[in-house]
Amino acid sequence: MTDLPPSIGIIGGSGLYDLEGFEQREEITVETPFGAPSDKFVTGLYAGRRVYFLPRHGKGHRILPTELNHRANIWALRSLNVRWIITVTAVGSLKEEYRPRDVMLFDQFFDRTSRREHHTFFGNGIVGHVAFADPISEGLRSLLSEAAKAAGARVHDGGTYVNMDGPAFSTRAESNANRQLGFDVIGMTNLPEAKLAREAEIALATLAMITDYDCWKTDEAHVTADAVMAHVSANAAMAKQVIARVIPRIPAEPSWSEHQALNGALMTDRKLWPQA
Ligand code: ADE
Repeated sequence: MTDLPPSIGIIGGSGLYDLEGFEQREEITVETPFGAPSDKFVTGLYAGRRVYFLPRHGKGHRILPTELNHRANIWALRSLNVRWIITVTAVGSLKEEYRPRDVMLFDQFFDRTSRREHHTFFGNGIVGHVAFADPISEGLRSLLSEAAKAAGARVHDGGTYVNMDGPAFSTRAESNANRQLGFDVIGMTNLPEAKLAREAEIALATLAMITDYDCWKTDEAHVTADAVMAHVSANAAMAKQVIARVIPRIPAEPSWSEHQALNGALMTDRKLWPQA
């Protein structure tokens, strides 16, 4: 595990199923104790760095949010010595000022998922409680913010992502309740990835693209899968530009606080990974 260079993972969401621009591009299959990840990983050198790309829902978009094997995805990346992950995702807007095709770089989560036993590597004899007050890597988030602004996107810095299960979108009553609670954007996939990445001592931040106003805004059509896809496809080129600008700025060595997240978190005298 540790002979590999500290590397960068990209998890592509709806509309981002591949990444071009790799040198020495190849596809690899990785097995994990949790089963198979969403798909093969595309890997290669990108701006001189080893990068692994995974389409979250699989090529052909065939895995539902609640069917995702998040543990296999993050375990596989950690076993490849990935220490930074950029996730790309479509989100619904819960505030007027976040418009479709804007970029939202949220820094908080609210958990409305129901399969939380799948959202940890602990259990089966190893107990740990990782700190998660600041769930997004601020170092990586600020690199994404600078790159998205430089790429010409309208960027919103900070906010709360509420993670619902889906697959149905929210009712209007739920959408209004989420707004009253002060949440900024809604999606179905990101919180488990962030939790598992923290347990894996990987710095993670999300490039979220607004695709709709969910269903609270009665002067707009309510969200549909087609509307989401139309916006993310239009924005995929921008996401690729942001990724291309950020990769060369990621440090070579994992020396951020997220890279030592398990220090002080373990109750059992057994480790998940070789720790700093
Ligand atoms: N992903 C994109 N738009 C969404 C919405 N309105 N609700 C949940 N997930 C989404």
